[in-house]
Amino acid sequence: SATSLQGYESFMMKEIRESWGAVRDTIVGLMNDMEKLGKAVKAMDKARRILVVAAGTSYHAGLIFASRLMRTGKTVIPVIASEYENVKAGGEDVVLVISQSGETMDSLLAMKSFKNSGSFVVSLTNTLGNSISYYSDIALHTRAGPEIGVAATKTFTSQVGALLLISSLMIGENLDYLKEAESTVSSSFSKSIGYAEKIGVDVSKKQSLYYLGKGLGVPMAMEGALKIKEIAYIHAEAYPAGESKHGPIALVEKDFPVIFVNTGEHVDELRNNLKEMQSRKARVYVVSAGSELRSDQEVTEIMIDINDARLAPLALAPPLQLIAYYAAKERGLNPDRPRNLAKTVTVR
Ligand code: AGP
Repeated sequence: SATSLQGYESFMMKEIRESWGAVRDTIVGLMNDMEKLGKAVKAMDKARRILVVAAGTSYHAGLIFASRLMRTGKTVIPVIASEYENVKAGGEDVVLVISQSGETMDSLLAMKSFKNSGSFVVSLTNTLGNSISYYSDIALHTRAGPEIGVAATKTFTSQVGALLLISSLMIGENLDYLKEAESTVSSSFSKSIGYAEKIGVDVSKKQSLYYLGKGLGVPMAMEGALKIKEIAYIHAEAYPAGESKHGPIALVEKDFPVIFVNTGEHVDELRNNLKEMQSRKARVYVVSAGSELRSDQEVTEIMIDINDARLAPLALAPPLQLIAYYAAKERGLNPDRPRNLAKTVTVR
């Protein structure tokens, strides 16, 4: 069953391996109720602004959704749930609240406050009968099944799949590319596991590292950094690669680890950033989807082929999760039960 290890040494690895089936079930499940999905899409289409409200990993999935729509001119405001007081919403706004558990107190309080101000609320959660879906006007679901590991893995990849679908419907894109969502995640897993172990073991000896991306690579970098902090207790910072020169590069010295997250959209700029890091003798790694960044043989690059650029976030999820997993393992840590963290955060 979903709640027993079935021979796996950890839930995290089991759940990463369940992620392609989860993405498939999520997309099929949402499309099977086109009436409800259509209502949510229509509400968001008509909205003056969409506020995307979430915490942690769910927030990173929300950033991918926000970026895709903002590129089309739509006004989308990502709101970290615990910071909701900074945004005033009204009746013309739609709130999209994203939460794996559906019980995160920060997200619940934020959505209730926006609802009280008259906003229409759409939720995307992974369980049935949770508080967030109860209080929302339209409750959509990912179908990843129960997730036991504290670190979100298959639920994140499923949220990304769901949000690609929803944003494509809003943009009016053909949905054919999503037929490859499942195979993209599964082939990414097989292609990346060996390299990810090598990178995870390498960085496990370090105290600190950077994850740099551009475009949708930024939220993916943020998610990679959160994973390795959570389960391997390695300090990691993620930011747009172009920001390096505005301060953070001051920390880079010989063998400082830097992981580039490349969606294939901005290869030339990222390659320049990579060279800047190499000239400071950083230890550079690359996780790429779509097109390679490799500048020389010194660089370990995980290269995932994709047939459509929009699939890049799905392709990048497994290697980033696996790097964190192997770093934790190498440090002798149990990835399922990180210290100080609860699976569902029901306090403010
Ligand atoms: C993910 O690995 C974390 N454990 C955490 O950031 C989590 O995503 C966050 O607490 C939000 O949880 P939710 O999706 O259940 O609302």
